[in-house]
Amino acid sequence: MSHLESLLSGCSMAKKVVVTDSLFSMDGDFAPLPELVKLRSKYGFLLVVDDAHGTFLCGENGGGIPEMFGCEDGIDICVGSLSKGGGCQGGFIACSTRWKKLIISRGRPFMFSSALPLPIIASLLAAIHVSKKEGWRRSLVWEHVKYFASLTKLNITSPIIPIIVGTEEAVLKAHRHLHRSGFLVIPIRPPVVPANSCRLRVSLSSAHTSDDIKRLVDALSPWLPTTCASASRL
Ligand SMILES: Cc1ncc(COP(=O)(O)O)c(C=O)c1O
Repeated sequence: MSHLESLLSGCSMAKKVVVTDSLFSMDGDFAPLPELVKLRSKYGFLLVVDDAHGTFLCGENGGGIPEMFGCEDGIDICVGSLSKGGGCQGGFIACSTRWKKLIISRGRPFMFSSALPLPIIASLLAAIHVSKKEGWRRSLVWEHVKYFASLTKLNITSPIIPIIVGTEEAVLKAHRHLHRSGFLVIPIRPPVVPANSCRLRVSLSSAHTSDDIKRLVDALSPWLPTTCASASRL
């Protein structure tokens, strides 16, 4: 944030844009949206947030990380994916009517594109209904996060949990081991992450049970930091 502020304070351009993920997909950490909103008031930039990993998961109504932080009014444009928490396909842009009109008439990827298919829209409406009515699903995910943290002693803050393994060979080996043990844990490799910081990316969901989490932590134990591995075996 201090680097951003120093860039902003040294920037003489009248129109500035700051674009950020809300929940970073490879490290599982949150962008400090309330602090970004404060900087927006101070420096007057356009704030664009990609809430792909927060929509449906965070906030009382599943409205995402801006809802969770209570700073929706301070964000100019929020984009999101429907393929993650929504279990569908496509994406959305949430913005003011003025921005909407501009994007519809000038946004190049939008021109000549067909609308989303009706079955997708119907599934999405169902997902929104479930998200609003069945908040227990969200609570369960966060309980899983706490349980995973208590078993591993890892300092995690979201259901996206990176387990850094190192080389590509090592992470593929770990992935194969977990797959044989019944867990699909995606190995993340360059260019998505820097070389030698290949990682297993654990994604917890409300479809998992506490028993799944316990068995997953056991299966992961060779790749957890030593203190974590011994904790998980207790
Ligand atoms: C932060 C972020 N935004 C957008 C997307 C794109 O989502 P989709 O695959 O639904 O187009 C992804 C996909 O992983 C993502 O991680």
